Amino acid sequence: MERKTSAKLWKIPLATVIPIRVTERAQALASEVLNLGDIAIDATAGKGRDTAFLAQTVGTSGWVHSFDIQPEAINSTRNLLEVSGLIHRVTLHECSHAELTESLPESHRGKIAVALFNLGYLPGSDQKIITQPESTSIALHAALKELKSGGRLICVAYTGHPGGKEESAVVEEFAESAENTGNTVEKIGYAPHQPKPWILVVTRR
Ligand SMILES: C[S@@+](CC[C@H](N)C(=O)[O-])C[C@H]1O[C@@H](n2cnc3c(N)ncnc32)[C@H](O)[C@@H]1O
Repeated sequence: MERKTSAKLWKIPLATVIPIRVTERAQALASEVLNLGDIAIDATAGKGRDTAFLAQTVGTSGWVHSFDIQPEAINSTRNLLEVSGLIHRVTLHECSHAELTESLPESHRGKIAVALFNLGYLPGSDQKIITQPESTSIALHAALKELKSGGRLICVAYTGHPGGKEESAVVEEFAESAENTGNTVEKIGYAPHQPKPWILVVTRR
């Protein structure tokens, strides 16, 4: 059965706005609220591009926590950060983002300015290692709790691969609960039953 989605939350499709990649759009949404000295989370490190972007944006006085379950992803991210001179402002967590709460130091809890999720699998690697609805749901709820007021959770979800629609449904459920608790929720892109990526943006009240 197809889930009903709340139409008022959907903006016009990405491709009709500006022909940019969905990941670039996600980074632009993060830039709107990120300042020097902020603390940010990359919940899916992958090749490290989002982590490097976040580390660059928060500057020398900021900090980034970056998570991935794949050693290969953590190594790629470390390499990128080292060559970019950004490694000294990032903690790499080789574990599931479902362990986000207990992985953050006490001094960073509740102070997160941006939590960025880019779901799916690492391009060019084992496509069986993929984000899963259950851990994604745990991590989304945990990340929202750790945002400061005005902080933003951004989640890029894909529906074109096996399991993608189920995971998108979980992201939609999370969006509904985030809206019901007074946060500002936007969905950008195509309705999740189409084989296209979309972005959920939750700005904490
Ligand atoms: C689409 S890639 C992320 C791309 C990345 N943000 C970048 O800039 O290159 C998705 C990543 O999520 C990771 N992943 C899968 N399950 C995870 C989990 N439970 N916790 C953290 N990362 C996970 C995969 O290993 C993969 O590297």
